Amino acid sequence: MATNGELNRKLRMALVGGGQGSFIGRVHATAAVLDNRADLVAGALSSDPVKAKASAPDYDICDARAYTSYQELIESESQLPADERIDFVSVATPNHTHFDIAKQAVDAGFNVMCDKPMTFDLPQAEALAAAVDASGVVFAVTHNYTGYPLVRQARQMILDGELGEINAIRARYVQGWLRTRIETDDQKQATWRTDPARSGAAGCWGDIGTHAYNLGRYMTGLLPETVRCHLKTFETGRQLDDYGTAIVQYQNGALGTVTASQISHGRENEITIEIDGTLGALEWNQEEPNKMMFRRNGHPHQLYTRDPNAPFMNAAGQAACRLPSGHPEAFFEAFANVYRSAYDDIVLRASNQEFDGVNSVYPNVNDGLEGMYFIQQCVASSQQDGAELPLLHSRARR
Ligand code: NAI
Repeated sequence: MATNGELNRKLRMALVGGGQGSFIGRVHATAAVLDNRADLVAGALSSDPVKAKASAPDYDICDARAYTSYQELIESESQLPADERIDFVSVATPNHTHFDIAKQAVDAGFNVMCDKPMTFDLPQAEALAAAVDASGVVFAVTHNYTGYPLVRQARQMILDGELGEINAIRARYVQGWLRTRIETDDQKQATWRTDPARSGAAGCWGDIGTHAYNLGRYMTGLLPETVRCHLKTFETGRQLDDYGTAIVQYQNGALGTVTASQISHGRENEITIEIDGTLGALEWNQEEPNKMMFRRNGHPHQLYTRDPNAPFMNAAGQAACRLPSGHPEAFFEAFANVYRSAYDDIVLRASNQEFDGVNSVYPNVNDGLEGMYFIQQCVASSQQDGAELPLLHSRARR
């Protein structure tokens, strides 16, 4: 059994969301146990109490710990003896519910794995960050693309100066599933994502634009200065954006673009990033995640493949691999790498040791907060016909 070091036991997880017919809760549950370092023991799996109970056997959660609401979950688990109670809560519900669930969990002293966008709006994100400061819990945000081995490899290469000075970041996340208004047919994932009362001030931009922006920030560490943005709604009658582009100026003079679309025919989950430096350029696409291109003028193009045993892989890339080269690793494994990195800190906290919740390998509450600031400023810029607005939040990862 994985021992979690000094803790010498598995961590105990509760899942909120993930009920029958839902999407990402199952991914959380799978990723969380991939390394045998945690057990899913409790849940409040649905907003519908009947469904919440009925969904529990799908996860082998016993009836006594299949709660009918997140409030009941947090209250009941808080009262259990320390050697039974959960260590962390995973939040896999629609955006408008994240804050209440995460805040209550944080205030009760539970660590949190929260899905993105972190909250409904910026004031909630700021309140949540303050609550995390006050409680000292580990708080991760599942910007799962940061967990891919070749993304971590690239991040380390950039930190080590292999690309030289970074001049440009082109990040895009392009989907096509909202090309028609499937929300009018009650498609579960589409209805809340296109509803301003549940999604937030942005639609496509909050759902996937934040992922693309976060990836560039994570890989380069460049600090943003300003943003100009145009968001569009191409499907008549839809209330929130389904397409957008932003131009980001970074403090070092680099120029970034972020494009997000949910109306591009035939596109599935094409999140692609290209980073240009003075010494070399990188390109990575999550639909082919085990490959990354590195180009330098005058040299043959170098195709990096995910290979934990290859000398060209750096320590960060190798540490994120589980399988030998050629066996594809993808979404679940990358998601599990966010969990794995957060577990290291959860174990430190449980053993009364210091951990760095600011410059963590996993995206943390400050990254979630930055994502909410990005959404707010992009929406405001778009409303002002692409006006240039500040983008550096005081709590941004440095
Ligand atoms: P979904 O609509 O498929 O599932 C949401 C689940 O949450 C349902 O089971 C629903 O009953 C439950 N729920 C709603 N309110 C609840 C409450 N108060 N208490 C307990 N359960 C509640 O939504 P989906 O697609 O799974 O998205 C959930 C979240 O995950 C969203 O914030 C979304 O942005 C994020 N997400 C992240 C992805 C990633 O790659 N990191 C991918 C997909 C979604």
